[in-house]
Amino acid sequence: MKIGMIGAGRIGGNCARQAAKAGHHVMLSFARDPAKLESLREEIGENASISSPADAVAFGEIVIFSVPWSAIPEALAQAGDFAGKVVIDTTNQFGSGLMPQPGQTAAALNAQRMRGARYVKSFNTLTAGFQKQAAGRDGATRVVQWVCGDDPAAKQLVAGLIQGMGYVPVDLGGTATCEVMEAPRRPGAVYGEEYRAQDAQAVDDAVQAGAPIPPTPRYE
Ligand SMILES: NC(=O)c1ccc[n+]([C@@H]2O[C@H](COP(=O)([O-])OP(=O)(O)OC[C@H]3O[C@@H](n4cnc5c(N)ncnc54)[C@H](OP(=O)(O)O)[C@@H]3O)[C@@H](O)[C@H]2O)c1
Repeated sequence: MKIGMIGAGRIGGNCARQAAKAGHHVMLSFARDPAKLESLREEIGENASISSPADAVAFGEIVIFSVPWSAIPEALAQAGDFAGKVVIDTTNQFGSGLMPQPGQTAAALNAQRMRGARYVKSFNTLTAGFQKQAAGRDGATRVVQWVCGDDPAAKQLVAGLIQGMGYVPVDLGGTATCEVMEAPRRPGAVYGEEYRAQDAQAVDDAVQAGAPIPPTPRYE
């Protein structure tokens, strides 16, 4: 697949490397320091190119949007209309800028302001260091990447990408009810916690039922 990257820092850079390793082509974009993008492009090799956010949107069958919360308006302005593209939002609402209203998830807010996007949120619950180290684990130790969004076909496409990148995709439902995968880290949320497939279904069941999720699992 062709993957457009808007932001290629700690999380976006991991995603670009892992997607390229899985055989996808990535177009990197959106940096104050073009040298950082150039060095990532060189590291990835022939599966990577560099252009503008608007070009990354046009290029990507999936666009990965991975910028600091405060830079979202600028990134969206440079990206333009997403024109029906599947967009994976990795952001968390830290720092300055427009914040979700009480009772509104960050996912619902961003889905609204990403014009034309088939919105999916993922890659946001685990630190960049952990994601880098855990990608590609085998068998039962594989790590869950939670997914939410209101477009089932978009989530299915994203699930395939996530699987190929070395994780277990788990769909937590729509953007209105995905607050357990959003910041901050706290009891009763999956944000900031490692999950494996064996413990994911019970979380999904609880979220769909509007019930508290089971206690956070601990792994050896
Ligand atoms: N780091 C984590 O552990 C982690 C985990 C889960 C989710 N997230 C979320 O994922 C998103 C990306 O986080 P990250 O840690 O990957 O961020 P990051 O390392 O700071 O990367 C941000 C990317 O955006 C680019 N950028 C372009 N214009 C910018 C501007 N005006 N201000 C800042 N950056 C700009 C940066 O390039 P230049 O530096 O060249 O400008 C870089 O490619 C955030 O919303 C974060 O909350 C982060």
